[in-house]
Amino acid sequence: MSWVFFGIVNVSVVMLVTYQLLSTRFQTQEASFTKAALTGTAMSAKRNCERLEVSLPLKKQNTPMGMNYVMLGDGRWLCLECMESAVMDTYEVQPLHFEIREFFEGLNMKIEKEFHLLLVEKEALKKAEEKEKIDSQHGVVIRGICLSENQIVTSVSERPPMGQNKQPIGLVTESQMVVSECEVTAILVLYGLPRLLTGYILAHEMMHAYLRLNGYTNLNKVLEEGICQVLGHMWLESQTYASTDASKKRECAGFERKLVEFLKNKIETDGSPVYGAGFRKVNHTVASSSLQETLKEIRRWG
Ligand SMILES: *[C@@H]1O[C@H](CO)[C@@H](O)[C@H](O)[C@H]1NC(C)=O
Ligand SMILES: [Zn+2]
Repeated sequence: MSWVFFGIVNVSVVMLVTYQLLSTRFQTQEASFTKAALTGTAMSAKRNCERLEVSLPLKKQNTPMGMNYVMLGDGRWLCLECMESAVMDTYEVQPLHFEIREFFEGLNMKIEKEFHLLLVEKEALKKAEEKEKIDSQHGVVIRGICLSENQIVTSVSERPPMGQNKQPIGLVTESQMVVSECEVTAILVLYGLPRLLTGYILAHEMMHAYLRLNGYTNLNKVLEEGICQVLGHMWLESQTYASTDASKKRECAGFERKLVEFLKNKIETDGSPVYGAGFRKVNHTVASSSLQETLKEIRRWG
């Protein structure tokens, strides 16, 4: 099941808010994540960090110029300032992969099976989705997918080398057949996203994997996406108080904290009848019973 994140309209809102986030990075004032922040001042933003603006069709008249942005191989722009936290290739994402497996284990939902976790370009994600015969909703952005079919996947195997002006040159990709004995052959996640967003997507997809590996089939779509969103939200929550790397600059830690809040708020207020409503419904059940009880309920309702 693919994980769609924002509609195109929302993506541009995210882009604007991200700009605001970045522009307030060195200011003491807190960036506001309320709805009010989505309008007004943010609208005047001319240039945007597009770390979060994933696969927005390139309809920009003014492409960002200068050294503050880099263009990823698949046409996305990335803010250079925060590129430090971006997860750029399949190798780099493995620590996060282990971390999230541990997170699931800590919740008493150990994922026993091994499968590939590959970072891919957006085209590869689209292709994989077609092969899985998932009907994508028009105008939604896919950032992660949990595969069940054996198929050939082209992944980003090496962080693109930086040329002059720190522009990435070329992209080292690798094609491989993903095969598995179990219900899950691989999880694919879009490359080049900040660590927190990558982890959240991964936690969501990992929950799909958990459900499939544990015989939860033919689930109600709203409930399935809902519980996956709940797990993504829980992982983000766990990052709020996660000890930050001591070597990390102060302002960077502050930025990450804001990003956690921002992403959590997006999940909570998501207007999608599947992802948003699903999250709220499942969260309510989890809050009033437990994760394990909720899983039982979901199986029953499915
Ligand atoms: C989850 O549901 C509970 C109970 O309805 C509510 O108090 C809580 O605020 C919800 N959490 C989120 C993140 O929406
Ligand atoms: Zn999903």
